[in-house]
Amino acid sequence: LGRRELVMVSNRLPVDRVTAPDGSVSWRTSPGGLVTAVEPIVKELGCLWVGWAGIADAEIEPFSLESMQLAPVTLSADEIEEYYEGFSNGTLWPLYHDVIAQPEYHREWWETYRAVNRRFAERVAESAGEGAIVWVHDYQLQLVPEMIREMRPDLTIAFFLHIPFPPGSLFAQLPWRKPIVRGMLGADVVGFQRVQDAVNFRMAAERYLGAPALGNALRAADGRQVLAQEFPISIDAAAFEELGRLPRVRQRAREIRDELGDPETVMLGVDRLDYTKGIRHRLKAFEEMLADGDVSARDAVLVQVASPSRERVGAYQQLRDDVEVTVGRINGSYGAIGATPVVYLHQGYGREEMAALYLAADVLLVTPLRDGMNLVAKEYIAVRSDERGVLVLSEFAGAADELRDALLVNPHDIEGLKSTILRAVHMPAAEQERRMRALRSVITHYDVARWAEQFLGAVGTAAELRDAAT
Ligand code: G6P
Repeated sequence: LGRRELVMVSNRLPVDRVTAPDGSVSWRTSPGGLVTAVEPIVKELGCLWVGWAGIADAEIEPFSLESMQLAPVTLSADEIEEYYEGFSNGTLWPLYHDVIAQPEYHREWWETYRAVNRRFAERVAESAGEGAIVWVHDYQLQLVPEMIREMRPDLTIAFFLHIPFPPGSLFAQLPWRKPIVRGMLGADVVGFQRVQDAVNFRMAAERYLGAPALGNALRAADGRQVLAQEFPISIDAAAFEELGRLPRVRQRAREIRDELGDPETVMLGVDRLDYTKGIRHRLKAFEEMLADGDVSARDAVLVQVASPSRERVGAYQQLRDDVEVTVGRINGSYGAIGATPVVYLHQGYGREEMAALYLAADVLLVTPLRDGMNLVAKEYIAVRSDERGVLVLSEFAGAADELRDALLVNPHDIEGLKSTILRAVHMPAAEQERRMRALRSVITHYDVARWAEQFLGAVGTAAELRDAAT
């Protein structure tokens, strides 16, 4: 990037402001894969980060956090309802995840989405230095690149979509498909998780804007070349590996197994409580395995960490009800005193506790019905420098493109899911080691620093081309 300033823009800042019942205020790491991946690279580079602090109506002055300058954007309660819970998570999220839940199309939500996108763009336009690089993140802000370009033609603009870009047959439903594609094409570089996402986007741009594709690039209406390509995201693998080697984390992993009653097999699921994650399917498979006698509550435990998410959105409330009823039924039917088959935790945990859980787990179940990437799968691999443990991974996670030595499953196929989980439970040590070694070599070679280098490398090239053209 040379000496160019970097400005990050995402719906959420890397930290959320939380107010305790006694009124005291603190900052907590934000949920989700976006922050996991992006924070370590910008801590290194330094940047200005424009985003929301996670609460309504808060006017918060800019402040610094390590090498980052955070610039909070204010959202009203109505805007949170219509832009965040509504258009972002009631329309786009389900549409982009294969309509697992029914997307809702409301014109008022769209109007508010546009207005809030404009506020983010204005904030960037007034804060970014001359010639800066602006990096806009994710589905909540797809109109921002075009808006910034109109306000500040001197800036180089990058956009990265952390979730899937849907196939043409689904994207066609969106009443605002054209302005959304135009918004994204305002960037110089548009990045996606998987090859298929980039292909879907290029086809949408051709279809709705008549933008001709030239290899991985598109020509926008104003004649600019826009690179639209996959840049699969990763994690800071070395940092997770180091966590997994800490004596206190290893000790904690042993404690966790003891506290679980020292079963033969500990299975683990770690997700935001989201209907895309396949938690219902996973529980169904486990319940049938208990019913069939393939496993028993005395020798196997499933620990399901389901961190609270988007709790005011209907589909999430429904999911929570379903999951909690199912867990109650499984434990009631197959548990015994001192043996609880599903340990369900509706809470988020810090990184050390997560690393200890990964170390304690013989099998990690990552079974989403659709997922942009899934960084939990990569975290598990990074922590397991002991080369033990088995990853069961859905074909529908972006991570499956790279992690070919996991046990890949179709989570809709409950019989297949059951037999794959059983295979994981009984996998001989030598095969675990061979697979884990192969998986580890993938993520240590292609970690988040590599990802940022490749993406920002492409953005830097775009910036130079722009400079040369003016
Ligand atoms: C995913 C999305 C992020 C989002 C995160 C948490 O990782 O890609 O954009 O921030 O989930 O969801 P939330 O709605 O709580 O921000």
